[in-house]
Amino acid sequence: MGTAPPTADQLRSTFIDFFVAKGHTAVPSASLIPHDPTVLFTVAGMVPFKPYFLGDEVPPYNRAVTSQKCARAGGKHNDLDDVGRTKRHLVFFEMLGNFSFGDYFKREAIPWSWELVTEGFGFDGDRLWITVHHSDDEAEAIWHEEVGVPMDRIQRLGDKDNFWQMGDTGPCGPCSEIHIDRGPAFGPEGGPLNDPHGDRFMEFWNLVFMQYDQGSDGTRTALPKPSIDTGAGLERILCLMQGVDAVWETDLMMPLIDQACSLTGKRYVAGDYEHRESFAMRVLAEHARSATMLVSDGVFPSNEGRGYVL
Ligand code: SER
Repeated sequence: MGTAPPTADQLRSTFIDFFVAKGHTAVPSASLIPHDPTVLFTVAGMVPFKPYFLGDEVPPYNRAVTSQKCARAGGKHNDLDDVGRTKRHLVFFEMLGNFSFGDYFKREAIPWSWELVTEGFGFDGDRLWITVHHSDDEAEAIWHEEVGVPMDRIQRLGDKDNFWQMGDTGPCGPCSEIHIDRGPAFGPEGGPLNDPHGDRFMEFWNLVFMQYDQGSDGTRTALPKPSIDTGAGLERILCLMQGVDAVWETDLMMPLIDQACSLTGKRYVAGDYEHRESFAMRVLAEHARSATMLVSDGVFPSNEGRGYVL
């Protein structure tokens, strides 16, 4: 990748090429309008693959890699109210993901994520913290014994943070997240356990060990085969690799903020989260981008459903 930080396009290619070399089929992003009626938008990379996880359809490949367009503005996964207020939340974002449909499981997915993050992205392994579901001895052992992460940087969290489900129903399972320590200027010590939703230990990659189907009656049944669903936020990784404070200052968002300033005659102060005008410029930039992506996938303004959100 060279010494210059990557552009968004280069980062996307690095991710996809890495997993193609590991036997994955590169699949184009699906629409933001899901086929699945249980979610309003495509909220994660796994949504288009739901029938494969459930065993309802036979996948044409058993490993896939995507950069999936996602929107989180409604239902269980909703980041709308955080936009502009934090350094990392967006309604529209791209989720980089590698998937196994009953093929490989934790023993491959975990070391591959570490290899790409440390060797491909060049992140310092000593700054990475891992969380696992409190019941997941196996994932913890792989991170520690096979990857070599010291036990004091592996923490166990409960269902709220380390169990992922697509919606009220559907495929789900315990998960393991990779966080990077951005340093004392970003928050308190103690790892993600101490500050799970702050800026210091920023989560940028989630590995879901898909094992169950959540039913509407509250029961969980085992999936036909354990599978892998991972999701890494392109904009968050870009922020880290470009060495900027927030997703707002990446090459994806900054030109939109500049345009919002030039159209409105307002001022943007990077890093100032108390300044109302800067908040407004971030919101304008983000919502213009999200609205463009929604309209281009066929959502139209209306007084209900997706159109109401738009
Ligand atoms: N589905 C998981 C998530 O959205 C991992 O891709 O975090």
